[in-house]
Amino acid sequence: MDNVEPKGAAHWIDHFVVGTNDIVAWTDWAVNGIGLTRRPFRGLTTASRKKNMKIICFLWWEGGSCRIGAFLQPEIYPPAKELGQELPRCGFYIRPEDIAMHLRRLDRYKIPHTDPVKTTAEGDEGTAIYIADPDGNQYEFWAPAQMPEGAMEIATDEKVGRISHAVYGCRDLAKTAAFFEKYCGVQAEQNSKTAEGTLVLRLRAGARLIYKLVDKVDERVAGHGPWWDMHTALTVREEEFFPNYRRMWDGLPEEETDKANANLSIEQQEALPARTGLHRSPVGLKWKEICERGDEFYDWDAHAFHFIGGMPLKDGSLALYQPKEQEEYLRELAESLKR
Ligand SMILES: [Fe+2]
Repeated sequence: MDNVEPKGAAHWIDHFVVGTNDIVAWTDWAVNGIGLTRRPFRGLTTASRKKNMKIICFLWWEGGSCRIGAFLQPEIYPPAKELGQELPRCGFYIRPEDIAMHLRRLDRYKIPHTDPVKTTAEGDEGTAIYIADPDGNQYEFWAPAQMPEGAMEIATDEKVGRISHAVYGCRDLAKTAAFFEKYCGVQAEQNSKTAEGTLVLRLRAGARLIYKLVDKVDERVAGHGPWWDMHTALTVREEEFFPNYRRMWDGLPEEETDKANANLSIEQQEALPARTGLHRSPVGLKWKEICERGDEFYDWDAHAFHFIGGMPLKDGSLALYQPKEQEEYLRELAESLKR
């Protein structure tokens, strides 16, 4: 880590969502492996099935400012790459002194994992344990040499802290760096220890977005049919939520047709530019109706993101925050339009 204070709009990764072919097995994995508390699935009632609603599960850390989710996919995933190689990948903070305890738990539940690996390749010094869920989605337990404030304050029952970083494949690092600089104010980190072909975008509170130079778009991304809705949510200050979206809406094109109806080939999907688009949730549909713009945004490599608001819990910093969901912003927006 260098000593330049990170700038930009995004403070943390609030949530990370994967696809699954077996939502029950994924939830068991998250309860056993991460220590999250089980919650009901959405979409698994007859009424929901009659409306063809999506089958999804979100699991929250205590306090609500971090979560992971899984959406049941319409097709079976192809096999994932070997552990530590599949992208996108999501990391969670753990304390270095707890590494042995985490390894014992992973073994107890037969969760595939690597040995601990010391690394500085992705901008921070620390130890990583690469793990996989039953669908082959990959994650890391990340024990950094320097723990940022807020990283472990909302740990799960099994002492797994909040999301530390997310790693994505990228065909053009300079283009992606320019995208995040322009729309999120985040500058590419300069660090001599970072591996070749790696772009590190440090968020203000300490989490990182990391892009690795690859030839092909990651398979498991929302902008890639037939998969849907895997995404990352970035925490921005409550009052900067709309200004951030306005900057994107001013500078980026809106997708011409939402993915479900666009009928594009994989090559056409991969050639789409960074853009905003429909967030296919009840709130997202309403959002697009009101604003005529989507509240989801895509980078140049088909990864989907959205913003979420954060309200500081102490000292004005977002090290610890209470989230403000899109529903609340949407209500405010609808009210303001009525006036
Ligand atoms: Fe989300």
